[in-house]
Amino acid sequence: MIPTLQWTDEGVRFLDQTRLPLEEIYVTANSYQDVAEVIVTMVVRGAPAIGVAAAMGLALGVKNSSAAGVPALAAEFDTMCRALAATRPTAVNLFWAIERMKRLFAEVSQRSGATVALVREALIAEAQRMYDEDIAACRRMGDYGAPLLPRQGGVLTHCNAGALATCGYGTALGVIRSAVDQGHDLHVFADETRPFLQGARLTAWELMHDHIPTTVLCDNMAASLMRQGKIQAVVVGADRIAANGDVANKIGTYGVAVLAKEHGIPFYVAAPWSTIDLRTASGEAIPIEQRPAREVTHHAGKQLTPDGVGIENPAFDVTPAKYVTAIITERGVLRPPYEESLQGLAGVLEER
Ligand code: MRU
Repeated sequence: MIPTLQWTDEGVRFLDQTRLPLEEIYVTANSYQDVAEVIVTMVVRGAPAIGVAAAMGLALGVKNSSAAGVPALAAEFDTMCRALAATRPTAVNLFWAIERMKRLFAEVSQRSGATVALVREALIAEAQRMYDEDIAACRRMGDYGAPLLPRQGGVLTHCNAGALATCGYGTALGVIRSAVDQGHDLHVFADETRPFLQGARLTAWELMHDHIPTTVLCDNMAASLMRQGKIQAVVVGADRIAANGDVANKIGTYGVAVLAKEHGIPFYVAAPWSTIDLRTASGEAIPIEQRPAREVTHHAGKQLTPDGVGIENPAFDVTPAKYVTAIITERGVLRPPYEESLQGLAGVLEER
C-alpha cells in the first residue's frame, strides 16, 4: 500500500507529495507546528488525508506537551487546534477531524481521575482509529461505486483522489481500483490539473504503481475526447459537499461536470461521510482557498508569465448538484434530490 502518512514513535511520517513522481522522499513531522506546515505546503494533500494528518498533529502535540495537569494541557490543546484549523479552509475533513479530537479531549478530561497521560493515550488511539476508518471507508466506497463504472471503456478523473489523498486506496481512484479488481476493463484519463499538477504527477504515478492503464490529458483536452466517445464515465473526489449536494473539489472540476452533462456522460463524486457538511446549505457558503500566485506564474522555479500580470489561483470550484449523477459514500450511493438523500441517510444513521 502507498504509505501516504503514518504515525511513528518519532512523529508523523509523510510521503512528500511535492517531490513525486521523480523522488520518493519521506519527511517526519516532529511537532504539531510541523504537521501544520506540511499541510500548508501540500507535502500532504487531499481532504481525507488532511483530516487524519491534523488528528495525528494534535495527538503529537499532546504527546510532546510538558503540561503539568489537564487544565494546562487544555489551554495548549486549544492553541494546537487553532493552528491546524488555519492551514487550509476548504476541505471540511480538517474541521471534522479537529472537532472529533476536541470532543474526545473534553470527554476524557471530564472523567474522574483524568490525567495528562490518559488524555494523551486516548488522543493517540483516536488518531490511529481515524486512519484505519479512512482506509475502511475507501474500500466500502470502492465496493459501492464499482458497479457504476462501465464494464469496458474510458474513465476520466480530475486532480488526485487516490491513496495519496487518503490514508490508502482512495475515493475516486478507490472506485476505479475496485472496478478493475472486479474485472472491468478500464482506461483512466487523468487531467493534469493545473497549476499543482496533481493529476499528471500523483494520479499517474499511483495508477502506474498499480498497473492500471492511464493517459494524462492537459486540462483543455477533455471536451474533445468526450466528443470522440473515448470517455464513458467521470469520477472525482470532493473537499466538501453541502447539504443540497453542491460539491467543492479541485479547480476545473466544474468545467468537467458541465462537459459530461453536455455529452451525456455520468459524473460521479466519491467521498467519505466526513466530507459531507450538512451545516453548509449550499456551495455558495463553502470557503474557497486562494493559493499563492507563484504556483501559476512559475513552474519548477522557472517564470512562465510576464512580471506584473494579474493572476487568479483559487484552489477549488463548486459543481452545482444538478451536474452530479450520484454521490458514492461508504454508507451507500446517493441520488438526487440530494437534500433528501443526504438528510435521509444522516437521519437513518442517527436513529440507529
Ligand atoms: O489541493 P488538493 O490537492 O488538496 O486538492 C485535492 C482535491 O481536490 C481532491 O479531489 C479532494 O481533496 C478529494 S481527495 C480524496
